[in-house]
Amino acid sequence: MHAIGVDIGGTKIAAGVVDEAGTILAQTRRQTEPDHAASIDAAIADVYAELSASYEIGAIGLAAAGFVSADRSGVLFAPNIAWRDYPLRDNVARLIGDKVDIVVENDANAAGWAEFRFGAARDVDDMLTLTIGTGLGGAIVSNGELVRGAWGVASEIGHMRVVPGGHYCGCGHEGCWEQYASGSALVRDAQAAVLRDPGRAARLLELAGGSADKLSGPHVTTAAQEGDELAIELLAELGRWIGEGAASATALLDPALIVVGGGVAAAGELLLAPARNGFASQLSGRGHRPEAAIVVAAMGNDAGMVGAADLARL
Ligand code: BGC
Ligand code: NA
Ligand code: ZN
Repeated sequence: MHAIGVDIGGTKIAAGVVDEAGTILAQTRRQTEPDHAASIDAAIADVYAELSASYEIGAIGLAAAGFVSADRSGVLFAPNIAWRDYPLRDNVARLIGDKVDIVVENDANAAGWAEFRFGAARDVDDMLTLTIGTGLGGAIVSNGELVRGAWGVASEIGHMRVVPGGHYCGCGHEGCWEQYASGSALVRDAQAAVLRDPGRAARLLELAGGSADKLSGPHVTTAAQEGDELAIELLAELGRWIGEGAASATALLDPALIVVGGGVAAAGELLLAPARNGFASQLSGRGHRPEAAIVVAAMGNDAGMVGAADLARL
């Protein structure tokens, strides 16, 4: 059976027709307005109309960046999108006319599931995937099963507090891990560095077209790959937060593998080497226990789409 997977981001959605082997047969995208939830519903209906014109579709999986309800019908709460007790499934069903089963999944669960089924974690039964983008998302597979918790909202790992009284988070609390280990944290720190030390930040500022508020994660990655010292430091700091937090998560989960995905993972070893160091420095019982490897995701930008489609079939 073919399913459509839709990855819902802050400003755009990407949708694809995915077969049972995880292969994307066709894909399309739309711009959306993050503060206008109805524009997301409409965009989903629109990509469904486009893709279902050429393919027979058995299910739709919607990967949403938020706390997804246990019955997979909607989003209870989202720190970075305007969803509160939002009936995403029913809204979309109304627009497309109840033709096909629709399932809502957490975006990071979907991406991690794709890594587990088809990607970097396909050979293990216990893994943690960290998806690093606007927020920090988690996916836990334990004994071959996606861990959902009692109410569907397990693995909201980005909202574990790592700094008492730390940076304010979109979830309403302070010091959440996502405020230190996400693309947003990277950009915030890069912008602060531009203000503090414009000389050292010259290359970053140039890549951002001269204005600090245009700075993005990919700018930092590009500069670091060119050898820019400040950018390398910024990625190393992000990597350290990822690795140290992953050590705490390991105390709870004991995964065989930790997969790092999301846009920032494009930085590769510039991010992963410091993450491995941070992990090693904070792992309890190190030297006396088998240790999870930290690897970069294999499914790239398509992970959410492929995983959502796959989970929609289950
Ligand atoms: C949200 C998660 C989401 C993650 C990645 C977090 O802020 O709470 O639901 O998976 O961001 O998008
Ligand atoms: Na999750
Ligand atoms: Zn939070």
